[in-house]
Amino acid sequence: MSKVLVITGGASGIGAATARLAAEKGYSIAVNYRTREQEANRLVEKLKERGVRAIAVYADIARPEDIERLYREVDEKLGTVTALVNSAGMGTGPTRVDAADAARLQHLFQINVVGLILSTKEAVRRMSTVHGGQGGVIINISSMASTIGGRPGASFYAATKGAVDAFTVGLAKEVASEGIRAVSVRPGFTLTEMTAVYAADQQILEEISSTIPIGRPGFVEEIAKPIIWLLSDEASFISGARLDISGGGFTLGGSAWPGLRQAGIA
Ligand SMILES: NC(=O)c1ccc[n+]([C@@H]2O[C@H](COP(=O)([O-])OP(=O)(O)OC[C@H]3O[C@@H](n4cnc5c(N)ncnc54)[C@H](OP(=O)(O)O)[C@@H]3O)[C@@H](O)[C@H]2O)c1
Repeated sequence: MSKVLVITGGASGIGAATARLAAEKGYSIAVNYRTREQEANRLVEKLKERGVRAIAVYADIARPEDIERLYREVDEKLGTVTALVNSAGMGTGPTRVDAADAARLQHLFQINVVGLILSTKEAVRRMSTVHGGQGGVIINISSMASTIGGRPGASFYAATKGAVDAFTVGLAKEVASEGIRAVSVRPGFTLTEMTAVYAADQQILEEISSTIPIGRPGFVEEIAKPIIWLLSDEASFISGARLDISGGGFTLGGSAWPGLRQAGIA
């Protein structure tokens, strides 16, 4: 069976690292992007140079019709999806609940939760043996935020990732007998564009590092390698799990982020 991997938000960060590593594992790869057309095309060219069948596909995961088109394009150009990594997601600037804005909240949940579920829906309709498929694996990128309610000012983001975890556990049960495994991966603070604004501030970076038992942020490859393993048959009995990839989790041993406290957020 040919292996076809769809990565939402695949043009950067954890998604792009997953694409690069998947290239060594015989997948045809669809790199979904929203604003990063050039990065997606550059990544696809690199994959092709390595002999991989790869395409870049525009789709805004906030738009259900885009998600449907993404999967139709994958059907036509690469074949039936057998592996999905739902990596598209957005964070928020630090915000307290008394500053919550309905439209922004809806957009956040539309991408991080609704879009992820609808992307999963399209994959299940193709993978499930009930629908004539041959099974597959779905990895949903959650966050350690789900376990701690988020770092200061990130409770809405944490709520979306809590929803991802709960959905993935239920999903795994729904589709286990149809040849599909589903796992939620929970990265801790990882150096990507999403965290760049924090990592660029030495004080904040040190404060965050002091809350990570291993004492430093993660690198994208450290998230992508376990994802590749989870996608493989090596992990054939793993479904419904939530894998923390977080350098030991979160400890309050640090300075509890005084930089943000000074800003009135923590
Ligand atoms: N970095 C961390 O510390 C960390 C920790 C825990 C969990 N995560 C999760 O890991 C996942 C990947 O994030 P990352 O850290 O790799 O950061 P990233 O490089 O910013 O990746 C996020 C990707 O999602 C895409 N995306 C966002 N909204 C989208 C939409 N509506 N439609 C299609 N694509 C969309 C972004 O593309 P555009 O910019 O073009 O929209 C971007 O390529 C996210 O779900 C994030 O919540 C990250």
